[in-house]
Amino acid sequence: MDQSVSAPGVASRRKRPSKLQDNLVYGLVWLACFAPLVWLAWKGFNGDLGANPIEKLIRQLGVWGLRLLLVGLAITPAARILKAPRLLRFRRTVGLFAFSYIVLHLFSYVGVDLFFDFGQLWKDILKRPFITLGMGAFVLLIPLAVTSTNGWVVRMGRAAWQRLHWLIYLIVPLGVTHYYLLVKADHRPPVIYAALFVVLMGWRVWDRLARRA
Ligand code: HEM
Repeated sequence: MDQSVSAPGVASRRKRPSKLQDNLVYGLVWLACFAPLVWLAWKGFNGDLGANPIEKLIRQLGVWGLRLLLVGLAITPAARILKAPRLLRFRRTVGLFAFSYIVLHLFSYVGVDLFFDFGQLWKDILKRPFITLGMGAFVLLIPLAVTSTNGWVVRMGRAAWQRLHWLIYLIVPLGVTHYYLLVKADHRPPVIYAALFVVLMGWRVWDRLARRA
């Protein structure tokens, strides 16, 4: 979730963009991450979230959280392939947006669906495996969100900070399995997200081996 820590081997051959270009791209990334929330709020206010708006809201927030986690994982390969190391600084923004969507996802489930009945939430965590896995993924995300500032990178040391952020390689499969377990009929969407995760991990393994060679 950090923007300042570079990925190994990502070096620029391009001219540094101007401050204005930089801010413009940053604004666009921010808008793209924020747009699904605005779209959901708009649909909600217009009563356009279908027959079961609460379920739709919970699901859409969850799916956007997962998509942004995957986008965050795709930034390093994209920066390497496009030889654009400045892309790396968007990892923190995208990661924090993913976390925010997942907080809202959890909040809409606990608040809107369970009316803050924490006893029921605890029962769900114990009895419904998809909730257990979702909660596990959420708990693991917390240290990543908390340590996403430059101050934490300095305090922990870059190597330890990077090792902590390997948790993301556990969080995404937990999120995907959470999704897989809860769908009843069409398993294709979670399988597609799982395949994307495998591709992104495969690239990392290949890249590491190639650099070692
Ligand atoms: C990293 C953490 C998480 C991710 C990535 C995630 C992702 C998702 C996704 C993708 C869906 C399905 C969306 C769809 O059907 O289109 C979903 C549904 C759901 N999630 Fe999560 N989730 C996470 C954490 C949690 C947590 C912590 C809870 C609650 C404790 C939770 C409760 C639910 C519920 C209740 C549903 C809807 C189930 C239904 O409609 O039957 N999720 N989540």
